[in-house]
Amino acid sequence: MRRRVLVVDRRPELADTLRTALSGGERPEIVHLRRTTQALDVLVDEGPWDVLVAGPSEESGAGLRRLAQIREVDPTLGLLVTVNGKEPSDLGALVKARPDELVRVPAAPAALRTALLATAAAAEGRRSGAIEAALRTAEQATRLGRIYTVSGPTGGCGKTTVAVNLAAMLGKPGTHRVVLVDLDVQFGEVTAALQLRPAHNLYDMVFDANDQRASGAEVAEALATGLTETPYGFSVLPAPRDPVHGDAITADDVTQLLAVLRQHADYVVVDTPTGLREGVLAALDLSEDIIVVSQVDVPGVANLRTFLSMLQRLGVAPEHQHVLLNKEMVDSGVTAHDAMEILGPVAGSMPFDAGVLRALNEGKPLCVVAPHHPVAAKLWRALAAVLPPDAVPPSEPTDEAPRKRRWWQRGSA
Ligand SMILES: Nc1ncnc2c1ncn2[C@@H]1O[C@H](COP(=O)(O)OP(=O)(O)OP(=O)(O)O)[C@@H](O)[C@H]1O
Ligand SMILES: [Mg+2]
Repeated sequence: MRRRVLVVDRRPELADTLRTALSGGERPEIVHLRRTTQALDVLVDEGPWDVLVAGPSEESGAGLRRLAQIREVDPTLGLLVTVNGKEPSDLGALVKARPDELVRVPAAPAALRTALLATAAAAEGRRSGAIEAALRTAEQATRLGRIYTVSGPTGGCGKTTVAVNLAAMLGKPGTHRVVLVDLDVQFGEVTAALQLRPAHNLYDMVFDANDQRASGAEVAEALATGLTETPYGFSVLPAPRDPVHGDAITADDVTQLLAVLRQHADYVVVDTPTGLREGVLAALDLSEDIIVVSQVDVPGVANLRTFLSMLQRLGVAPEHQHVLLNKEMVDSGVTAHDAMEILGPVAGSMPFDAGVLRALNEGKPLCVVAPHHPVAAKLWRALAAVLPPDAVPPSEPTDEAPRKRRWWQRGSA
């Protein structure tokens, strides 16, 4: 697009000289404005402009202050200021105006040409930077976090273990906002597994102090301040303390909670109770990845087959399902290999190992306390396909206490 230059000066000579100086090659549109007091209006109403050239009549104190004001309104505009050799009458305003180029007048056409082109190039650089920054902000504002739901057909197969470790793997790079939701609303174990003492739980997010369902805005505000921090780079939304309260949580509540969380978190990991009850289906609906955990034994594998066919009936695409076989034991009569002959390929399989229980009893994710433990290493490999590229194997946390903050405050990672 042809560049547009506004020359503000009471006399027309400067604009004429610029026209002559730029008559070869790319010829910008040069518009002359005599009434300098209207400069700001013309810049705003008749823009966009690439460069403003301030002629000698703008060298007065009022003129320079006008330029400083213009710079505040449009920080990306190119600004070429002419000076006629005297000390500027308001040096402070000149500094605030941040001219790209200063040219002493009268100047040779070639010098004016060079200064104008340099000013235009500086403005272009600033504009493309500003556009990129605006695009980045818009993208961040609209990007929704990725939801992983960890599910499974049998009790005790390792869903909570996988969910806690996945959250730690996602949280560890320290730049992601990760939240682990305990959707096992009646007998959730995340709080115990991490030895947390939460001030709030899922029920408090959805219901107010009088047990009345909270409004959408109240739920969002409660989530912003009510999650429980862990030292592992992720926050927790714990299950209700009272199983009766768990009963009150509906599929719509789950949808609402996850919809809010994914607006603010980069990753949301959902731990679920056994099976596919309503709340779990609501979570599956919003999930990019469904991690299905099953024990390596005959009932476990049989239930897993049924579970996977239910997912198929629900329309979950196979590429969104990731099957993890857990607790494989030597000499138990069934191996992960046997299971795969029935089920087809799986994302990974983990052995039964007392180290998992030791980490649980310590109240820490296994992949944090023992990142090289065989179960942690296998889990890491099994989940590699769903982890972000910057995820790195976790290591011991520092003793630093978690910082108090609004959970999704910007720049808080
Ligand atoms: N690979 C493993 N080796 C040894 N123990 C394990 C392994 N995986 C999980 N466990 C242990 O098995 C128990 C059940 O695991 P977990 O709580 O993760 O299962 P779950 O599927 O969430 O159970 P629930 O259905 O009750 O929610 C825990 O004590 C856990 O530490
Ligand atoms: Mg569990």
